[in-house]
Parts: sequence; structure tokens; C-alpha cells
Amino acid sequence: MPHHTAPEVEVCVSTWWQRGVIYQVYPRSFSDSDGDGIGDLRGITSRIDHLVELGVDALWISPIYPSPMADFGYDVADYCDVDPRFGALADFDILLAAAHERGLKVILDFVPNHSSDQHPWFLESRSSRTDPRRDWYVWRDPAPGGGPPNNWISDFGGSAWEWDEATGQYYLHAFLKEQPDLSWRNPDVQRAMYDVLRFWLARGVDGFRIDVLWHLVKAEGLPDNPPNPHHQASKGEMDRVLQLHSTDQPEVHGIAGEMRRIADGFGDRVLIGEIYLPLDRLVRYYGVEAPGVHLPFNFQLVGAPWKADVLAGLIAAYEAALPAGAWPNWVLGNHDRARIATRVGEAQARVAAMLLLTLRGTPTLYYGDELGLTDVAIPPALVQDPRELREPGLGLGRDPVRTPMPWDDTPGAGFTTGTPWLPLGADWRTRNVARQRTEPGSMLTLHQQLLALRRRHPALALGDLRVLETTPPDVLAYERRQDDARVLVVLNLGARSREVVLPAWAHAAQVLLSTLDAPAAPRGGLLVLRPDEGSVLGSPTAAS
Ligand code: GLC
Ligand code: MG
Repeated sequence: MPHHTAPEVEVCVSTWWQRGVIYQVYPRSFSDSDGDGIGDLRGITSRIDHLVELGVDALWISPIYPSPMADFGYDVADYCDVDPRFGALADFDILLAAAHERGLKVILDFVPNHSSDQHPWFLESRSSRTDPRRDWYVWRDPAPGGGPPNNWISDFGGSAWEWDEATGQYYLHAFLKEQPDLSWRNPDVQRAMYDVLRFWLARGVDGFRIDVLWHLVKAEGLPDNPPNPHHQASKGEMDRVLQLHSTDQPEVHGIAGEMRRIADGFGDRVLIGEIYLPLDRLVRYYGVEAPGVHLPFNFQLVGAPWKADVLAGLIAAYEAALPAGAWPNWVLGNHDRARIATRVGEAQARVAAMLLLTLRGTPTLYYGDELGLTDVAIPPALVQDPRELREPGLGLGRDPVRTPMPWDDTPGAGFTTGTPWLPLGADWRTRNVARQRTEPGSMLTLHQQLLALRRRHPALALGDLRVLETTPPDVLAYERRQDDARVLVVLNLGARSREVVLPAWAHAAQVLLSTLDAPAAPRGGLLVLRPDEGSVLGSPTAAS
């Protein structure tokens, strides 16, 4: 006989990608199962325990598709297969099943703006001017006086146009010449790429991170981009012009909307857009007329100065800019930007972890940040990243943030039995997963504690957020609140001790977690924060 009980009271109607925490895996650098020095899918599968122990909910894997690796997988030669360096489709199915069995979701990287120049579509497209796939890419005659059709600059430096001698035209590439831009104004391209989404969704993936979503559509007529009046040479050649006509065109929202419709057709999946734009234009990617992506990546913390008042303002502005029903998200680092521990230093990296994991919205953690990995200086002879090779010495190269994950203190750091494709950080013998698992004060333990706290206190995962306005210098404080449950987060971003006046409700609150050892309890409505200390206060009994 079935046992009938009252239906459970659903406290929150949130879905996994709202409650959850995403973890980015850079597959080349996570774990190598076959000794070729390059991480692979079996390697990732073998490390699922780490992700479960850490307490994240989903992994996003940077591209795993067959690729000549001109841009390490962001140049895709076949959207529906796996590069042999990473394994085979069967290995992906095993990884997906193993992750799902442990309650982890899997998000793939979808790279729609450009393919590899070795993709059969492009090989056909460049074969002749009359090839049926010619207009799958953006081909143009030279400018009237000769030379490239317009002044657009590749994000990796140099003209965004490559001359094709055989057919006497230029093709457009927003990134490397090995990454020709697809023509998203062509309905055949749209159909083919939507089928790619369906292929993986039907296979069971839980969503996509969409590469350079704001780049897909270009202004009709491809007009010159205006010069950037604030151009800084240190930002690379791309900074010379404003990408007014080459990115963020109104038609992109219809395309994002169509991707959303497809994803929603498969149930509870998530679409995350990679978009670097000012706030007002960023939030439009939630959808203008119809729903867009679920989460336009919010990279504000990646570039912001590490100052309490700046961050307080930025958090409040973001909250205020979100359209009705839009779910926020936060990022501290990724495979393109300097690591957080390098940007703010080791002590503040702990405070930053507390910030990331207590803000309102879905956090994305970058692999290795849970160990406090720093950027690794790569000797010139070992440089791999095309960005660094093309514009050397500006600090734009991304190899330093893509070095292998140190798992233990055996040779190869447990990452590989061979020679790692990029060198390990110098501190791998002491800064590794095996070591930090056993240390109560380690960065890894702090991440575990923060993630556990988030699970125990729904106010942290789902509650409202209010930035406290009167705080001492260097202190960033905010309240999270869900129904009667309240949690207070107080972060000292400076190197001096600070005394914080607590809101009345928090006078009796306890320190649920500090970034430092042996935190002092609040006394007389005051909390003393030590230098570089972050603290979460609340009532332990409020936990559900
Ligand atoms: C995105 C990726 C970056 C890549 C570029 C071109 O910005 O994150 O790694 O080089 O797109 O695909
Ligand atoms: Mg390998």
C-alpha cells in the first residue's frame, strides 16, 4: 500500500542552476589519465570525488571537441564529437553518467561565433566563390582602394580579415585567422548550429556556456568601428577601436531567444552567455522580447578594483539593473583572466572566496582557485597561448592561469605521469588537493565550509541581498534574508583591524564561519574584524 503523506511544503521554487554552484574545468589542465601530459575526459571522471567533496553542483567543461588546438579547443573542427586527445564520445557518456550518478550536472562549452578553419564547412566555403557553403562565413572583396574590407581588429591583434589568394576575397575572424566567423545572418548556419545544441541536449548535457555570445551578429554593411579615444597600448591592439559594429547587435537577442527555446524544450537546462559588456547592455541578454540566456555571465568582480566601496556600489548597481525575474550570477576568474589569488593576494583570496559564495546568485568557481593557485610565470620558450605569441610581453597571455591542477606531491603532481603541457606552479608540492584536504585552515577547507554553509542556509543561496550602508573603511557588509532567516556577511578588504557596528538583529548572532582561525564573537553590538578577515554571522538554529 502506498503511504500517503501531506505534500511537502516547497519552501523554494528554485531550480538547480539557481541554488547551485558551478565549477569550471579547463580540460587540458585538470587530470591526465593516459600520460600524454594533457588532461582528458577519463581524468575528469576520476576526479568526480573531489568535486563532490568540495560541494559544487555542476561542472562546466571548456571545449572538448575535435580541434587543431590553434586556440586550445575554441577552434572547433567538429561540433558533435570529442577530440582524441580528450578521449571519445563514449568517454563523455561515461563522464556524464558518473557525474549524474553523484548528483552533479554537466555543462558544455558551445562555440557558435566561429569554427576552426579546418571544419569541413569552412574547407567547403573557401573552396570556391560559388560553393553552397560560401555564405556560411563572412567573405568580402577588398576595400575599393585595396586592403581589408574595414578596420576591424582581431581580439588577438592584427586585422580581423584574412586574405584568401585562391578565391580573391577576405574572410572575417574576430579571433585567430584559424577561427573564421560563421555568418549568423544565414538561416542555414542557424539551423545547423541549433542542431548541435539538440545533439548534446539529447545526449543528456545539462546546459551550455556560450562562447562570446555578444559577437555572433555583425552590423549590416560591416561599417568601420570608431576609434577608441581612451585606447591603452597595454590592452593590446584590439583596444584601438570600439567594437560598436562588430558586436552586440540587436539581432543577437532573437538568436539567444531561439537557443533558449531549444534548451527549454529539453526541460531544466541552463544557458550561460559569455558576454563582456557594460551592465545596461549585459542585462539585455536575459531577454528583450522573449527570454534570452538564463545567466549572462557577470564578470564585474574580475575587473573591479579590490576596494570595499567600489564593490558595494557595483553589487548594488547590479542588483538594481536586473530585470524582473532575472537570476544573478558572479564570477571571480576563468581561463582568460588573471587568477584571483594573484590579483588580490593570498590573504584576500580567502575573503574573495567568501564574497563569491555568499553573494546573491549563482557563483562560478574556476578550477584551482579552491587551492589558492596563483598565475604561473611561463618562460618564453614554453609559451603556448596564441594571444601571448601574437602580442608578447603585455601580460595578455593566458597560459599562466591554465597550468595543471596539483592533486598531490608525487611527480607530475598527480596530474600526469608524463610531462605536463604547461609547467606546474612552483609550490605544487605543498599546494595540492591531498595536502589541503587534511589541513583545517587550508583554502580547500574554507571552500568546503563555505559551500556547506550555503547548503545549510537557504538564505545564502536564495535570499534577498541588501548592502549595509554604514561600514568602516575597507569593510564590505551585506545581509541575506529569506523569510525570517537572516545571515550577515562582513568582509574586511584591508590590512587593518576594523570594528563593525552590527544591525540590531545581529547582536545575538554567532559567527558561523570566518576566513581566519578562532574568530571572536560579536560583543555589545560590535564585531571586531582582524586584517583580511571575512565573517558570516547568523543564527545556527535558523538552519534547515
Ligand atoms: C572566449 C574564450 C576564449 C577564446 C575566445 C575565442 O573568450 O573564453 O578562451 O579564446 O572566446 O573563442
Ligand atoms: Mg591525456
